[in-house]
Amino acid sequence: MRKKIFSGVQPTGNLHLGNYLGAIKNFVELSNQKDNECVFCVVDLHAITIKQDPKQLKRNIRETAATFIASGIDPNSSIIFNQSMVSAHSECAWILSCVSKIGWLNRMTQFKEKAGKDKEKASIGLYSYPVLMAADILLYDATHVPVGNDQKQHLELCRDIAQKFNNDFDALDFLKVPEPLIQKQFSRIMSLKDGLKKMSKSDPSDLSRINLTDEKDVILNKIKKAKTDPMPMPTDVMNLSARPEAENLLGIYSSLRSQGLEESINEFKGKQFSEFKERLSETLIEKIEPISREIKKLLNDEKYLDQILFNGSEKANKIASKKIKEIKQLVGF
Ligand code: AMP
Ligand code: TRP
Repeated sequence: MRKKIFSGVQPTGNLHLGNYLGAIKNFVELSNQKDNECVFCVVDLHAITIKQDPKQLKRNIRETAATFIASGIDPNSSIIFNQSMVSAHSECAWILSCVSKIGWLNRMTQFKEKAGKDKEKASIGLYSYPVLMAADILLYDATHVPVGNDQKQHLELCRDIAQKFNNDFDALDFLKVPEPLIQKQFSRIMSLKDGLKKMSKSDPSDLSRINLTDEKDVILNKIKKAKTDPMPMPTDVMNLSARPEAENLLGIYSSLRSQGLEESINEFKGKQFSEFKERLSETLIEKIEPISREIKKLLNDEKYLDQILFNGSEKANKIASKKIKEIKQLVGF
């Protein structure tokens, strides 16, 4: 079966190793498989659910597109565009918000985390964020959605929304119920400062993450300072769960080298962390530096990036405007 792939990344700056290993690396592999139809969206409407500086947002939209291309997605064979250029996303989100239940959204853990203690002060957009995400996916009849582990709950909601819409409007199989594509291993990269916390764009400490634009010296320094524990390197997978930092660093190493955790453990078992950290830094520099260099090169050519996004949005609009027309008909407009 021909796969239709859709995924999105928020242009909120600081794209990091977690985004790369959890999502973008997978986008690249899927986009290289000949029969797949791929759409990768810079989800700028999602970004403004939290206050953004307009100038910085514009820069971040281009940087996210540049990251897709620098990582290896070919804009000629995949669609790369930004969400706000295709109005069907907002229209569809509204319609879907009228079939979604408040009780479903109340269960979303990401909202609880992002809203923090004072939920009354969070934007309505932040609350209904997963409905917009469902609109993104369902407009393109996506069959598969590659994401990091943290988006699993949002995808389950998307499936519920699709089924509810089909049911309410007596339209069997009209909205396609998508399958999540979450990597079995290494789908959740943790902070370099705390193995129990997700690596995140919004962590105030830059030492907690490897940014995709970090240069060699910065990578070396961050890995040197990464938290470990006082024991030597682990000897088998069994005793890893009690050592979250060791598990995370070994996971990063394995994922970058596309090898199993066991293989990495065997390579370093019983050795000192310092030796492992040296090899990890080398691997990171080898894989990340070319991407970082290419992102910077692309960012110097804003016209080129804007053209990619414009062309992508025209192609996306063709697909999405057809679907939203059908949705409107079903609803009775
Ligand atoms: P975001 O930056 O929140 O738009 O996330 C873009 C993609 O990166 C999504 O598929 C996330 O699931 C994934 N992602 C973000 N942070 C991590 C992380 N620490 N580990 C693995 N995947 C992540
Ligand atoms: N919510 C996703 C994230 O923060 C980004 C996103 C928006 C997305 N729309 C999507 C991912 C559609 C997959 C499909 O990571």
